[in-house]
Amino acid sequence: MRYQPIDNKLFIENRKDLIKGLRPNSIVIIHANDIYPTNGDGVMPFKQNSELFYLTGIDQEETILVLAPGFPDPKMRELLFLRETNELIAIWEGHKLTKEEGTKTSGIKNIKWTQEFEQILHTLLAECDHIYLPSNEHIRSSSKVETSNDRFIKWCMDRYPLFNYERLSPLLYKQRMIKSDIEVELLEHACHITEIGFRRVLEVVEPGVWEYEVEAEYAHTFISNRSKGFAYTPIIAGGGNSCVLHYIENNQQLRDGDLLLMDVGAEYANYNADMTRTIPVNGKFTKRQKQVYEAVLRVKNMATELLTPGNSIPRYHKEIGEIMTGELIDLGLIDKTDVKNQDKNNPAYRKYFMHGTSHHLGLDVHDVGSVYREFAPGMVFTVEPGIYIPQENIGIRIEDNILITKEGTKNLMRNIPIHADEIEDLMNRK
Ligand code: GLY
Ligand code: MN
Ligand code: MN
Repeated sequence: MRYQPIDNKLFIENRKDLIKGLRPNSIVIIHANDIYPTNGDGVMPFKQNSELFYLTGIDQEETILVLAPGFPDPKMRELLFLRETNELIAIWEGHKLTKEEGTKTSGIKNIKWTQEFEQILHTLLAECDHIYLPSNEHIRSSSKVETSNDRFIKWCMDRYPLFNYERLSPLLYKQRMIKSDIEVELLEHACHITEIGFRRVLEVVEPGVWEYEVEAEYAHTFISNRSKGFAYTPIIAGGGNSCVLHYIENNQQLRDGDLLLMDVGAEYANYNADMTRTIPVNGKFTKRQKQVYEAVLRVKNMATELLTPGNSIPRYHKEIGEIMTGELIDLGLIDKTDVKNQDKNNPAYRKYFMHGTSHHLGLDVHDVGSVYREFAPGMVFTVEPGIYIPQENIGIRIEDNILITKEGTKNLMRNIPIHADEIEDLMNRK
């Protein structure tokens, strides 16, 4: 792995917390993600299953975690199955984890090779009644691809039809919403790498530069800092492209007088930063651009203050809608009559701000967790309001990553330049 070793206390504690919520005589089985194909014999870069990583720290394919906390023999209560290497694998793919490395990474003492899994599972199941399996229950997921865990669910239910099957996701999603100190440090590090990229970009952007050249600056910075690269496909959107919410072509030339919206974040150790900054291509905001910029920044700051324990996403989004409505009236984009006549299900502000303000952030960029769960210390959210005015070629979004603590919020991106003056100063230093 590129990243520095993670204290395995994180994974040991995560497993400890998970088993507290299991029914007696239970077993948990989680498989690593498959390596996904492209075309022919091509493959995508490996991306570990978030749940498996969360509970083991193992970043290798063909890994299986088995937890059977009530099993009579204590040695068999926690098992990690790893892919056994051989000469051929060593020559073609390089190093695979040894059993000792598996233990060091995960804190699991009993490591087996993957080919022993079925026989050991059979032995363990003799003492179990409930089988907990993970499925992708992310509310935004629409994937039709069968995962390794989906495949195992089918196999297991076919082979062992008389057991009681349980959903693991509700337990893990609830747990993953609250970040531990180690996780917060990893997220902060991803934010820090993102900051280095943004500062570099501020020195490079000027009229005539291409969007993909800006993307390349981020890629270079992220990878040079032990990141695998982008946490998600970056949006590097100049001029009118800044109003296209999911613009990822990044193939246009930046023009004098235009804005550049960049929604880009680094991953680090599978944790993700999710930043958006909007800057003037020529280093100076126009009066109107600055007016809209300040409005978005005010909404972002006010939204951050609403991330208080006890609040929840539905109420929070309603409150932000009201704040945004006020700003859009002040900007002359909507008027009081529009607001008076608005459809409650499609308020007037949505014409210029048509996406949500916050989502959980963690091992997944749109991290798991119920939107109805009250905000609580340890949760990390993005805050990302925007105003998009295609007729003025203005699209502005500002996005920070915020930790909720008992004492208030902590901005994990507090060091990333955000004020219009600071951005202009940094851009004009060259
Ligand atoms: N970059 C994805 C998002 O902001 O939600
Ligand atoms: Mn984003
Ligand atoms: Mn986001």
